[in-house]
Amino acid sequence: MKPKLLLENISATYTAGAEPLPVIDALSLHVAPGEFVSLLGPSGSGKSTLLKIAAGLIRPERGRVFLDGREVTGRPARVGYMPQQDLLFPWKTLLQNAALPLLAAGVPREAAYSRVMEMLPVFGLERFAHYYPNQLSGGMRQRAALLRTILVESGLLLLDEPFAALDALTRDKMRDWLLAIWEQFKRSVLFVTHSIDEAIYLSDRVCMISARPGRIILDQPITLPRPRTRQITNEPLFLEYKQKLFASLEE
Ligand SMILES: Nc1ncnc2c1ncn2[C@@H]1O[C@H](COP(=O)(O)OP(=O)(O)OP(=O)(O)O)[C@@H](O)[C@H]1O
Ligand SMILES: [Mg+2]
Repeated sequence: MKPKLLLENISATYTAGAEPLPVIDALSLHVAPGEFVSLLGPSGSGKSTLLKIAAGLIRPERGRVFLDGREVTGRPARVGYMPQQDLLFPWKTLLQNAALPLLAAGVPREAAYSRVMEMLPVFGLERFAHYYPNQLSGGMRQRAALLRTILVESGLLLLDEPFAALDALTRDKMRDWLLAIWEQFKRSVLFVTHSIDEAIYLSDRVCMISARPGRIILDQPITLPRPRTRQITNEPLFLEYKQKLFASLEE
C-alpha cells in the first residue's frame, strides 16, 4: 500500500547564523493511510522543521516529500497543518478564524458558520464564538487552532504539539476527542509531542528523533488494543514501551 506521507532522506540546514546549522540529517519517515504516528525528541532536534517540510512550507536541502505517492517537495500541499504557534488571525473572531478552511473549500458562509458552531461545545468554546484571539486564553487559542485544522478536508493531519498549552484535564479530554475523530474519519496523523505517555496512548507507531541534526533512532510500533481508555496506561505493555522510549530519549 502506498504511504499517505513519505519523507525520503530529508536533510535541512539553516543558514541564519554565522555558521550553518544542520538540523535534520538524511531522515526518512512514512505514515500509512489511516495511521497515527507520533514524533518524540529533544527540544531543537528539528521536529517542527520536519513538519514544515512535510507541509511544503520549507524546501529541504536534500530529500523528497511524497503525498499519496505524488512528489510535493517544497510545494504547499492540501494538508491539515497546525503550527506550534497558533497563528489565528487577530482581526477575525474565533468563529471567523475556525470557518476559514471551510470557506476556502467553497462551503457557503452560513453553512460553514453553523458547522463551526456545532463543534464549539466539544472544544469548550461555545461561549466564545465572537471573541477575538487576544480575548482568549492560550489554551483556548490552541483549541480554536486545532478545531480549524480538523476542518481542513484532507486525509493528513500534521499537528505540532497541539495540546502543549492545556491543563492536564483538558489535555486528557482533547486526546480522547482526537482519537474519536481519528477513528471515525480514519485520517493519517503525524503528531509532535514532548509527552511519552501521550505518544504511546495515541499512536500506532512512535518515532524517536535524535538530538540535532535529527535522525530517527527508534521506530516503535504500539500494539495496544483500541479503542483505548485511561486504564491502558497501567498495563505492563504500556509501561514497557514507556521505559524503552525513555531510555532512547536519554541517549
Ligand atoms: N527559521 C529558522 N531560522 C534559523 N534557524 C531556525 C529556524 N527555525 C528553527 N531553527 C533552528 O533549528 C533548530 C530546530 O528547530 P525546530 O523548531 O525544528 O526544533 P523542535 O524539535 O521543533 O524543537 P521544540 O521541541 O523546542 O519545538 C533549532 O536549533 C532552531 O534554532
Ligand atoms: Mg517544535
